[in-house]
Amino acid sequence: MGKDVIIACDFDSGRQTLEFLDQFTERKPYVKIGMELFYAEGPQIVRDLKARGHKIFLDLKLHDIPNTVGKSMAVLSKLDVDMCNLHAAGTAAMMEAALKGLTRPDGTRPLLIAVTQLTSTSEERMQKELLINAPLPDVVSHYALNARNAGLDGVVCSPLEAGTVHEICGSEFLTVTPGVRFADDAVGDQVRIATPARCKEIGSDYIVVGRSITAAADPVAAYNRCVSEFID
Ligand code: C5P
Repeated sequence: MGKDVIIACDFDSGRQTLEFLDQFTERKPYVKIGMELFYAEGPQIVRDLKARGHKIFLDLKLHDIPNTVGKSMAVLSKLDVDMCNLHAAGTAAMMEAALKGLTRPDGTRPLLIAVTQLTSTSEERMQKELLINAPLPDVVSHYALNARNAGLDGVVCSPLEAGTVHEICGSEFLTVTPGVRFADDAVGDQVRIATPARCKEIGSDYIVVGRSITAAADPVAAYNRCVSEFID
């Protein structure tokens, strides 16, 4: 399984994104296009980054009724991204519809992964605000199992949960983990975090890194540090 560092390109314009990525002359990073950039620029930004040779994780976190999600995934699959996602909280019916919508007539499709609980959500908030009265790791494992049973390829989860998800869902089931910070970084709004080196030890398949690279004084050096801690 190809381990990789995915840069979360959380910018509000295509121009800023392309300028940012122009700095990476040696290795073309795998990039994540999230809601901010997609809503600002639309599908053309996906085509532009694809044309520049980047692998793309389209992080739109779909969560709606099965029919709507299935039809939306059919549209997204035409963009030829490498990975896209939805919320596991939408239930198995929604995940199955998504998978069907995403699959092209020739049987190929992008990887489809499910968000379990956002890495910004603490156990306390999940229990008090969402009334999910179980320990957070159990909720993540349960949602992961639902996703696997619906035929998905993996989940988005905290690096701290990647080991348990692999134990429960198998080593081939992908763990894509945001909430990554260097030991000397600001945590920001993330709660369940780990360093790239710790992500490697626990067994994440892909780490998603945003501000630790995009807001660094030297983003290329920060990316290379992630690659050497996580992959090399
Ligand atoms: O800047 P930072 O490294 O915190 O960025 C993390 C990225 O991962 C953001 O783009 C965020 O939307 C995304 N993400 C997350 N937690 C999830 C799913 C996606 O932080 N559960």
